[in-house]
Amino acid sequence: MTTTRTVTLIEGDGIGPEIAAATVRAIEAAGGKITWEKADAGAGAVEKHRDPLPQATIDSIKKNQLALKSPLATPSGGGYRSVNVTLRQHFDLYANVRPVETLAGVPSRYTNVDLVIVRENTEDLYAGVEHYIDPRRTAAESIAIITKFGSERVIVYAFEYARRMGRKKVTLVHKANILKMSNGLFLDTGREIAKRYPEIQFDDMIVDATAMKLVVAPERFDVIVTMNLFGDILSDLTAGLVGGLGVAPAANIGDGGVAMFEAVHGTAPDIAGKGIANPTGLMLSAALLLDHIEQRDAATRLRRGIKAALANAETRTGDLGGKANTAQFTDAVIRHMQNG
Ligand SMILES: NC(=O)c1ccc[n+]([C@@H]2O[C@H](COP(=O)([O-])OP(=O)(O)OC[C@H]3O[C@@H](n4cnc5c(N)ncnc54)[C@H](O)[C@@H]3O)[C@@H](O)[C@H]2O)c1
Repeated sequence: MTTTRTVTLIEGDGIGPEIAAATVRAIEAAGGKITWEKADAGAGAVEKHRDPLPQATIDSIKKNQLALKSPLATPSGGGYRSVNVTLRQHFDLYANVRPVETLAGVPSRYTNVDLVIVRENTEDLYAGVEHYIDPRRTAAESIAIITKFGSERVIVYAFEYARRMGRKKVTLVHKANILKMSNGLFLDTGREIAKRYPEIQFDDMIVDATAMKLVVAPERFDVIVTMNLFGDILSDLTAGLVGGLGVAPAANIGDGGVAMFEAVHGTAPDIAGKGIANPTGLMLSAALLLDHIEQRDAATRLRRGIKAALANAETRTGDLGGKANTAQFTDAVIRHMQNG
């Protein structure tokens, strides 16, 4: 019997509430057993509570260990710090998982992409160690921190993910030919860990060659594990291989048990409130959530419904050249799940 899980739902800003409502409907129709606990964050929370990340939201995620998050507005320049970054740091969500798969009907140059990037989310150049070297600020340095602990946990996560999801190969991406110590540590750690997973192929590739190969032959890749900066760049590149950020899902996972699932696009303020937003990114993130809580049948049904609705221009949303609005797309996803 499937256990019903309680998940914190952050509806977010801009188009967030519209795509969250569509996703909740689709999960229910897929047979996902989830009780939602709504919590505020972002610009909406500033208006309501004068706090972009109220303690009640942190407490809710801590209690439930699971969150589905719509996009949040982050002010550029001044204002408050990105809530997304704060949440990742607070819960030590060290693995950022970004699967991409060719979706029929979504305009793209490729027909054969099916890969996952596992990005280390807490270290590297993003550790926040940087300063100006001289008082006149004519030179600055940023320090990339790579630790054995941080490398080990994300690489183990990538192999465990590959094993669980029936994936065949893990490619570790680095620049250890130049950054022999920091990137060398990541690579050596990967080589050691790979020995524990003899059933999974392992290779490594230098990041610049990886960027080229991803564009020329993306079918060569299965699971990629890499450090923070390279993962940040390559995961947007791979989203571009399947139609862009609008259809890209993401999961942020930590060892503390907390997992947060999110669409990677922003709040799309230009179309907010019009009922025309594309909920695909959040719906696919919800499928990752269902995988994570072992509700695999519901995840498979949901993906099948999404893919079928995307394949037809009548039921695709306008941003993908289709004719449907958010509700019509969601109706089609649900219809396809029921008919399939
Ligand atoms: N994960 C997040 O919470 C996240 C990520 C990126 C940006 N943001 C925030 O979002 C706000 C707007 O950022 P931006 O304009 O740079 O990027 P954006 O992704 O919101 O919008 C870029 C373009 O893509 C379109 N678009 C995005 N998602 C769409 C969808 N689901 N359906 C249809 N069209 C879609 C928008 O209409 C816009 O034309 C900013 O406050 C930014 O900080 C949040």
